[in-house]
Amino acid sequence: MAQKIVAGNWKMNLDATSAQQLISEVIHMTNDEYQGDAQVIFSPSFPFLGMVNHQIKDHERFHLSAQNLHQEEKGAYTGEVAGAMLKSVGCSYVIIGHSERRQYFHEDNALLAKKIDVALTNGLKPIYCIGETLEERNAGKTLQVNERQLSEGAFHLSGDAFSQLVIAYEPVWCIGTGVSATPEDAQEVHASIRQLIEDKYGKEISLNTTILYGGSVKPHTAPELFAQKDIDGGLIGGASLKSRDFVDIIKAFA
Ligand code: 13P
Repeated sequence: MAQKIVAGNWKMNLDATSAQQLISEVIHMTNDEYQGDAQVIFSPSFPFLGMVNHQIKDHERFHLSAQNLHQEEKGAYTGEVAGAMLKSVGCSYVIIGHSERRQYFHEDNALLAKKIDVALTNGLKPIYCIGETLEERNAGKTLQVNERQLSEGAFHLSGDAFSQLVIAYEPVWCIGTGVSATPEDAQEVHASIRQLIEDKYGKEISLNTTILYGGSVKPHTAPELFAQKDIDGGLIGGASLKSRDFVDIIKAFA
């Protein structure tokens, strides 16, 4: 069975004080209100990783993720952050291939494959993001685009290495727009992603792969999304910045 996960991607938001307060509220509310076995991941900006790690480290449910890493191990890359650095400040996950990185920073599948490799080498679990634009969806290319991003970014891995990945399906037209894919539409894509993984790595690995949905997930939409057979949780943007909303999304697992 795939691990259930709710991950909050803060993107380029919050400052140290508000970040610290948000974490403390989410920990307390979750401990009080949620007894299930979902894991919760926080993905703050680089400057807050150490602080957030300090706040969550005694709470088994909570894990730390970075939003990006550089594809080289180390060296003269001013302004960049290496996998080993992330590991050393307590990260266990790293988001790779978010559509904002693909769109604004021109990261392509070949580069993302390298980032996945360097993450794994450093003991970080990649949360690998895929998803089609509205244009691609309207052209009937949804499955094709997702297949390509998945296979070119991650299918060079061995089965053991692939088993470390979390996949996040984030339709680009749903991110930050307030428009969510319907649970049925999302389920259809998730099922096709799981099938691709089964075709490549076999049934056991496919069933054990966590496939998150992301794109305008809110407390009122999460229960129906998370009830879908192939949706194992969410990658949450805007709603992860409000403790009440984020905890209500965690509680959306039946
Ligand atoms: P929103 O939840 O704000 O749409 O963002 C989704 C996302 O991009 C998470 O990575």
